[in-house]
Amino acid sequence: MRISFAVAVLAALHLGTALASPAKRQDYYDEDDPPFSSPNYARAGKMEQIGRTGVTAMHAVLLNERKILIIDRCEFGSIVAQPFFVLPEENEAHFDSGEAAWSTEYDIELNQYRALRLKTNSFCSAGGFLGNGTFISTGGGQRTGRTYHALSGFQSVRQFNPCTDDSCIWTEYPNGKMGDNRWYPTVEQLPDGSIFIIGGSSKPVQYNDELHNTPTYEFWPSRGAAIYMPFLQETLKNNLYPFVHLLPSGNLWIFANRRSIIFDPSANIIVRELPEIPGNSRSYPLTGTSVLLPLRPENGYHAEVLVCGGSEGVEHHAKGRADATCGRLDLDAPAARWGMETFVFPRLMP
Ligand SMILES: *[C@@H]1O[C@H](CO)[C@@H](O)[C@H](O)[C@H]1NC(C)=O
Repeated sequence: MRISFAVAVLAALHLGTALASPAKRQDYYDEDDPPFSSPNYARAGKMEQIGRTGVTAMHAVLLNERKILIIDRCEFGSIVAQPFFVLPEENEAHFDSGEAAWSTEYDIELNQYRALRLKTNSFCSAGGFLGNGTFISTGGGQRTGRTYHALSGFQSVRQFNPCTDDSCIWTEYPNGKMGDNRWYPTVEQLPDGSIFIIGGSSKPVQYNDELHNTPTYEFWPSRGAAIYMPFLQETLKNNLYPFVHLLPSGNLWIFANRRSIIFDPSANIIVRELPEIPGNSRSYPLTGTSVLLPLRPENGYHAEVLVCGGSEGVEHHAKGRADATCGRLDLDAPAARWGMETFVFPRLMP
């Protein structure tokens, strides 16, 4: 599961804009005044708010028929002064003790949340399910908070066994269980039900670099020390939150910056090196996104991936334009080549 802290940042910025100038808010799906010419937009319906999540849904994942697990970063105990208003840096969800929560469990039937206690900062973490349904969250951000404190989450492993009766709580290993610090790692489930944890950096960085890079991978449940991966050294600087998809072969497709490989994680072998995607870097910072397309019998279940968006990023920094291209690659074609297309809007962190 990939997430982006930018979502939280953008949400905060948007909140600021909305508070400062409510008249500027637009309803993009207003049937009387559709902003786009396509008739599909007019038929798209309207969003209705039916509940509150208590914390920002930096990560949100369906646990079972009744519950959604929501994870934010630690935000409490300080007040951020803005030019026109004061934004308390604290979540709505609180415990009886007065402490703010940064994780909740949302009930789909009651449309209510239950605050869940975390000890470590889950900002910039990753997560995935074990084969038995237990959710694992790995890595995160620095120690933070003024009134109350969250411990550093760089090396944390957090475990949540889903339930429907409000009894389940997080179990956390703040450090010492994961081999390396991981800020912006990626997690992917393996065929045996364990998870693969890859990459990240040892602390928050604007761009990843030699000094902070975590060019390794490891497993949970642990299979021993983290294993060095040269690919993550070679793909600096734009290699955080690498895109990883499990393939029908049991191998992994791993993409970072503009390069990708098919990797056998149990044997630590690169099975195949694929061509670089044309254009800009696609992984963090200024990242695009990726999806494994549906596997179809017509072509013998070839695994095809789509990578969309990104930015000129590093070279142009804030002035860099977002990328309006999607690349599509058939990983099973003998001469795999990226097919490039454009979509309607350039998208950064889609
Ligand atoms: C799933 O497996 C993990 C690791 O072996 C274990 O800690 C966890 O309790 C298991 N979950 C369930 C629901 O049995």
